[in-house]
Amino acid sequence: MGLIKWFTLLLILLNFFATKPTFSYSNSFTSKFLDLAKEPNVADWMVDIRRKIHENPELGYEKFETSELIRSELKKLGISYKHPVGVTGVIGYIGTGKSPFVALRADMDALPMQELVEWEHKSKVPGKMHGCGHDAHVAMLLGVAKILKEHEKELPGTVVLVFQPAEEGGGFGAKKTLDSGVLDNVSAIFGLHVEPNLPLGEVASMSGPFAAGSGFFDAIINGKGGHAAIPQLSIDPIVAASNMIVSLQHIVSRGYDPLDSQVATVGKFRGGDALNVIPDSVTIGGTFRAFSKESLIYIKQRIEQRNLSPLAINNADLHEYFRSVVAGSVLGKDKLMVMQPLMASEDFAYYQEVIPGYFFLLGMDNASVERLESPLSPYFKVNEDVFPSRAALHATLLASNYLLKLHQKVPVEEGKYNDEL
Ligand SMILES: *[C@@H]1O[C@H](CO)[C@@H](O)[C@H](O)[C@H]1NC(C)=O
Ligand SMILES: *[C@@H]1O[C@H](CO)[C@@H](O)[C@H](O)[C@H]1NC(C)=O
Ligand SMILES: [Zn+2]
Repeated sequence: MGLIKWFTLLLILLNFFATKPTFSYSNSFTSKFLDLAKEPNVADWMVDIRRKIHENPELGYEKFETSELIRSELKKLGISYKHPVGVTGVIGYIGTGKSPFVALRADMDALPMQELVEWEHKSKVPGKMHGCGHDAHVAMLLGVAKILKEHEKELPGTVVLVFQPAEEGGGFGAKKTLDSGVLDNVSAIFGLHVEPNLPLGEVASMSGPFAAGSGFFDAIINGKGGHAAIPQLSIDPIVAASNMIVSLQHIVSRGYDPLDSQVATVGKFRGGDALNVIPDSVTIGGTFRAFSKESLIYIKQRIEQRNLSPLAINNADLHEYFRSVVAGSVLGKDKLMVMQPLMASEDFAYYQEVIPGYFFLLGMDNASVERLESPLSPYFKVNEDVFPSRAALHATLLASNYLLKLHQKVPVEEGKYNDEL
């Protein structure tokens, strides 16, 4: 073989190794990220941040202090960001600044409820509480940011950190974030939720629809008020509203295939103050949930509706990836549980309509310490032990290993769902 031929062969070989690195993406980042996440300057730092956010809960889009705290930490880490995105949202960038892009999302809103846990870092705002653990989600994503920043030069692409407002109560924070266009070139997005009923060290997920689509409704029933003793001269809105509520139950129990899960619940019924007066009007309101687009549309047509949010569907390819790479090589396959679909809705669904997305639950129950209450309980607590070795590590591995995978040009399914409702 002549010199030119040898040289050509060498080029081909070099090319081969350049496009197919010899290391496997399942192990390349594992051990060093694990060690880093456990260091006090990461682990304790995440706990401090979570407690600060927990003391100052903010609702919906009003997360000015939370947003400020996130930005100041990103600034200290030397991470560039965009703000405001969707009113108070913050989008951080780590890596080359170029494609491929992989996004990690943390919601950051609290709930309108009073905390009843007595502890040093109890909510300082009456009637507001991080009762769903979104304070932990923010702290963990900042932990991820810190770890990734130290390894920025090794990232073959860009990790996009999505700190999103208004996840709860049909707040449309995910939709606003998407509409802003900041996620336009993102190839995959990952999200998680802490789960008190799952053991620490385990994760749970599934392929396909995992959280119901939902809608909320409000109605004012106007009648004609009067004396309780002479109802014939009034039009009683309380009796009318009661009939409506009973009819609503029939939409679900009589109108549907019982194997296609739905729920319709009236959570608000207001009208009248006096015991002997028929009021002029009654306000009712509630929510409905379903696991198929058809069912949602059907209920929507039957109830005076307000907001409608899509069902959340985990991408099948990302589920395989998660199973094999993350659960397989990091936790062990026996730590990946099959998640039961949730009737609760999750606005991560908006991302999943346009970007292949994956959402999983992160166990934080340590039975040897205490039983944890469910989210939305005023006694809800976060097991901060979950921060270092699990969440930060996972998200870090998810992001960086997935970038490697994309870099190796393993095809990713498009996964576009045009379920716009
Ligand atoms: C997405 O990619 C296009 C084409 O390269 C570019 O013009 C656009 O600015 C990118 N958008 C974002 C949000 O990165
Ligand atoms: C549960 O908590 C105990 C006491 O803090 C700790 O020793 C143990 O390692 C924890 N379990 C797990 C699975 O982390
Ligand atoms: Zn939540």
